[in-house]
Amino acid sequence: MQKKNLTLILGGTGKTGRRIVERLEKRGIPVRIGSRSGQPPFDWDNPATWPPVLQDVETVYIAFYPDLAFPGAAATIETFVHTAVKSGVKRLVLLSGRGEEGALLGEKAVRNSGVEWTIVRASWFNQNFSEGFLLEPVMAGEVAFPGGQVAEPFIDVEDLADVAAAALAEDGHLGQVYEVTGPRLLTFAEAVQEIAKAAKREIRYVPISTEEYAKAMLEHGVPAEFANPLTELIATVLDGRNAHLSDGVKRALGREPRDFADFARDAAASAVWG
Ligand SMILES: NC(=O)c1ccc[n+]([C@@H]2O[C@H](COP(=O)([O-])OP(=O)(O)OC[C@H]3O[C@@H](n4cnc5c(N)ncnc54)[C@H](OP(=O)(O)O)[C@@H]3O)[C@@H](O)[C@H]2O)c1
Repeated sequence: MQKKNLTLILGGTGKTGRRIVERLEKRGIPVRIGSRSGQPPFDWDNPATWPPVLQDVETVYIAFYPDLAFPGAAATIETFVHTAVKSGVKRLVLLSGRGEEGALLGEKAVRNSGVEWTIVRASWFNQNFSEGFLLEPVMAGEVAFPGGQVAEPFIDVEDLADVAAAALAEDGHLGQVYEVTGPRLLTFAEAVQEIAKAAKREIRYVPISTEEYAKAMLEHGVPAEFANPLTELIATVLDGRNAHLSDGVKRALGREPRDFADFARDAAASAVWG
């Protein structure tokens, strides 16, 4: 017999989703993973895959792919939200991005859904350096990136997952926008230094322009429809607008967020950087 009252974790094999799945399973909450490799498969680019994945689902974590600030993302999220509510979903938790104007439209679709909602609006993930697109440059010993000298309050995805899991599983987070950041502002140069120290490797940070970064991505075979909006997004969110701390982790969980140095120490101990 099929399980009822499932919690669907979109992006459930990704950086945030897989940690949320672990947390909900520990709480004994039945979970379904929503991704192209899930059963049944879920594909953002194919709305016909959505209704079967939404069957018996009451709660959904939405991590859009590739990025909810990309062109067309908000419209897709809005269509998904309508489909989900029609299918009987009663609670939505959206992963959003801090300082991203495009992301506000996706947030609006969730706020106007007519069902319970929580928004987790995140700063840059620490884990971009250990599990994401900055892992390869870290391993190569040179992070050439258009981060300039701007300071960013990097968030540990472990904290983000704690907040999202609480919002999915508990009633005390409804209607909240949790802007989640780490406890400290770091420049990209400082973040790379912390990693170099923890990993005991030589890693340089080389600030480059967004044009140079876009060109390098295209030369590496990244498709233009991905490289161009990504470069635009990076230029927007790293213009200094996000160079301040927020208290979302404390408000949601009643504790301080984890420091970048603790992330770097634990990631190094897990041998992710060799
Ligand atoms: N990185 C940051 O610093 C940052 C900061 C703030 C917000 N965000 C937001 O985080 C979100 C990404 O979350 P994440 O980092 O946890 O994910 P992620 O690690 O990038 O993993 C992507 C997930 O999406 C699935 N996926 C990929 N293509 C898909 C498709 N066409 N249809 C359905 N699922 C697909 C993947 O599984 P399959 O391959 O099996 O499909 C995987 O589970 C984005 O919306 C971004 O805006 C990121």
